[in-house]
Amino acid sequence: MDFKLANALGRIVELKDRSTGAHTWRVTMYAQAMAEADRMPISDIMSFMLGAVLHDLGKIDVPSDILSKPTGLTDVEYLTMKRHPVDGWERLRRLGVEDPFVLNVVRSHHERMDGTGYPDGLRGMNIPIEARWFAVIDAFDAMTGRRPYRDDIRDNAPALALEDLQAHAGTWYEPRAIDAFKELYDAGRLDSILEHLNDQAGLETRGAPLSREVIEMARDALLKSSLNTADHQRIDAIIELAQHREIES
Ligand SMILES: [Fe+2]
Repeated sequence: MDFKLANALGRIVELKDRSTGAHTWRVTMYAQAMAEADRMPISDIMSFMLGAVLHDLGKIDVPSDILSKPTGLTDVEYLTMKRHPVDGWERLRRLGVEDPFVLNVVRSHHERMDGTGYPDGLRGMNIPIEARWFAVIDAFDAMTGRRPYRDDIRDNAPALALEDLQAHAGTWYEPRAIDAFKELYDAGRLDSILEHLNDQAGLETRGAPLSREVIEMARDALLKSSLNTADHQRIDAIIELAQHREIES
């Protein structure tokens, strides 16, 4: 999958899940910084970034009222929410994506080292390394990024988030990934990304508006990978929202 389509899909997920703000943009930039620091080959860096762009693709299939609830999901709602890694993975497989880096980040980014994560309850080294690394990035941004329903992020939020990650080192998160992330943070290498945590512009999805052609491409991909034919109406509604936001505004 090329970056143009992946970016369109990532942006459309953000439009649906208003709580993510520029989350996708930031986690992709963190992923690039971590992959470069780890001296990954360029092709792997690109794959890791692509996984970051697409990590929550499955949220397309989670009803908006569940996505927009900040807390207090019922058990049934939580189960629905917990389907998003597999749904996103399945959609990418249907679109012919075979790159394990991308598929593993999408499927396994909510696994935990002690086996209490989802969707597969994988433990320790059985969790693909790229997913263990991405889990640290995703959690850090979830704890520091401003959300429409939560604008009380304080200046020391990144430091507190790092403490929280370290408190769960080895139980939830890969300790080496936390160390690598902290090293980048301490060296100031994440400052240009962190600058966008609290500004209003950071709440908007970044970049130039998507063209009609790219939105159509995303629509085709979403329909082609649809898990349920009854979803077509819903996908058309999401695309209509994207067209309105991206082209007509
Ligand atoms: Fe997720």
